Amino acid sequence: MSKSAFVFDHPLIQHKISLLRDKNTTSKEFRELASEISMLMGYEVTRDIPLKEIEIETPMGYAKTKVISGKKLAFVPILRAGLGMVDGMLKLVPMARVGHIGVYRDHETLEPVEYYCKLPQDICDRDVVLLDPMLATAGSACDAIKIVKERGAKNIKFVCLIAAKSGVERLHQEHPDVDIYCAAVDEVLNEKGYIVPGLGDAGDRLFGTK
Ligand code: PRP
Ligand code: URA
Repeated sequence: MSKSAFVFDHPLIQHKISLLRDKNTTSKEFRELASEISMLMGYEVTRDIPLKEIEIETPMGYAKTKVISGKKLAFVPILRAGLGMVDGMLKLVPMARVGHIGVYRDHETLEPVEYYCKLPQDICDRDVVLLDPMLATAGSACDAIKIVKERGAKNIKFVCLIAAKSGVERLHQEHPDVDIYCAAVDEVLNEKGYIVPGLGDAGDRLFGTK
């Protein structure tokens, strides 16, 4: 049986995704929404971070209690639209490192073109959370996953806001070990590789270009 994406059905996320899709949403609102949704998603994406038990002194006595065991995380946005998801995630895990991978889609071929890569030196020891609002043909995501795997990363998650059904299938086919998290799976890609209904061009809407 083929794997599917983990789709966040939380009402707050679904509500904010509706606002994000709306073509009348301004860039300022779009940035705020992308950040808020990312933070809400981060709560679930970090669910399997291991804990260790410690003992602390409260004003009333001693408590055996749990803290994160020091597991190393790296958030890696795919430039440029992935940048819109970083601060939401960092609000939850401020100690995480941040790498950057620059990939854009050639408008004619829809093939990914790499132009930048800067990752934490110890990326091979870190759990990697790749961030990109859109998973369309999955070319950019598969390329970014290949890059972090070449640097030794083993435990990789891909987090997006909206995915195309065919993109989810391709990513699972090429990287069956990578779990996909998203807030919606849309059925169709148009002839230019845009997700329909989607939300349009995520980078342009985030940064007010075009
Ligand atoms: C968008 C988006 C993804 C990619 C998805 O980036 O942020 O990276 O397209 O499409 P794919 O799944 O078909 O590869 P874009 O190429 O528009 O670059 P930008 O973020 O620099 O605008
Ligand atoms: N990139 C975007 O920004 N939007 C899409 O719908 C597809 C790729």
